[in-house]
Amino acid sequence: MKIHLVSGGCGFVGRNMTRRLLKATNDKVFIIDDLSIGTHPSNWMENFTSRKYKDVEIIGQDERLYFWQGDFRNFLFRFRENPRFVQDNYGLDFERFCDVFHFAAIVGGRLKIEGDPMAVALDLSIDAEFFYWVCRHKPERVLYPSSSAAYPVNLQSESHAIALGEGDIDFKGNLGTPDMTYGWSKLTGEFLAQIAARHYGVSVVCIRPFSGYGEDQDLSYPVPAIAARAARRENPFEVWGTGKQGRDFVHIDDIIDLIFILMANVRDGSGWNIGSGKLTSFLDLIELFCDIAGYKANIKPLLDKPVGVHSRYCKMDLVKEKFGWEPKISLREGMTRVYNAAVERLKKEGKL
Ligand SMILES: NC(=O)c1ccc[n+]([C@@H]2O[C@H](COP(=O)([O-])OP(=O)(O)OC[C@H]3O[C@@H](n4cnc5c(N)ncnc54)[C@H](O)[C@@H]3O)[C@@H](O)[C@H]2O)c1
Repeated sequence: MKIHLVSGGCGFVGRNMTRRLLKATNDKVFIIDDLSIGTHPSNWMENFTSRKYKDVEIIGQDERLYFWQGDFRNFLFRFRENPRFVQDNYGLDFERFCDVFHFAAIVGGRLKIEGDPMAVALDLSIDAEFFYWVCRHKPERVLYPSSSAAYPVNLQSESHAIALGEGDIDFKGNLGTPDMTYGWSKLTGEFLAQIAARHYGVSVVCIRPFSGYGEDQDLSYPVPAIAARAARRENPFEVWGTGKQGRDFVHIDDIIDLIFILMANVRDGSGWNIGSGKLTSFLDLIELFCDIAGYKANIKPLLDKPVGVHSRYCKMDLVKEKFGWEPKISLREGMTRVYNAAVERLKKEGKL
């Protein structure tokens, strides 16, 4: 029996991955989440049914989804007492986890990254416990989500922004300064991933997603928040900063496609970009959403809001050359999906 582990399985990327694993395989999936940000599977699993068994919930008619609610570190500590604690407690017959996807992290948007950097620094503790466990448990394959925030911020300024390539993080050369404690923790995580691969023989790949978005993303992120405001025909349309700052937007379905390709091909802990390779400013994004909504808006800059680096986008040449991968979902198509989801949600809430 194959069983996969998804930490942070109730968060944005985690729940999309969990649904994909359940759909694309017949395997079991064990998810961990403390629900500090993520939401209970009853909110995002179709035809939700569950039964309680000890301290897990077994979900779905076919009982392939297991949910352990709590701090991922506490879950990992249990392995120190008994390396077979999952098998012994939950009657699951397997040798080791097959694919392990580690999405449990304190992420948040710009407000969190700049407003409470020491809370975000707790990711260092989550990741250190994770890699310590990985090197003992030896899952078949491991996915570590780093981030575009690991790239040096001086390559993302108004005057010096470049399309960031994988080689712009060079552990043997000059690393540069990443973005706040969030970027530092991701850079450290990548370093630990390489150690896990080289010193402990674990198959690990790191991804550096740029601005991932999707229909069910939390409203604290700019894309769904802007979509909802366009659906309500905001005018003047508020933008954080001047709106000239730009990001590289990539749809969650494309991210997940590429994760599977990378896990099948990369074992050495190296980091790979996941983006569209295109820079889109927030002004362009607002224009696109207003166009989808069918109106034109005046822009109202909110200059006291945190905006982060000026331009963050990537080169996707290496991924294209090695694996032939390109995103399937265009910006307009993806944003239209997000817009339609926002309309549905607002209607349900009686706000439209
Ligand atoms: N979404 C993106 O575009 C993007 C971009 C770059 C990197 N990433 C990385 O991907 C991963 C997932 O991101 P996301 O967007 O899904 O974030 P998210 O906040 O939606 O999900 C993280 C999940 O982890 C849970 N969590 C936090 N601390 C925990 C703990 N100690 N124990 C158990 N659960 C805990 C939260 O409740 C949440 O459900 C993160 O590592 C993030 O840095 C995401």
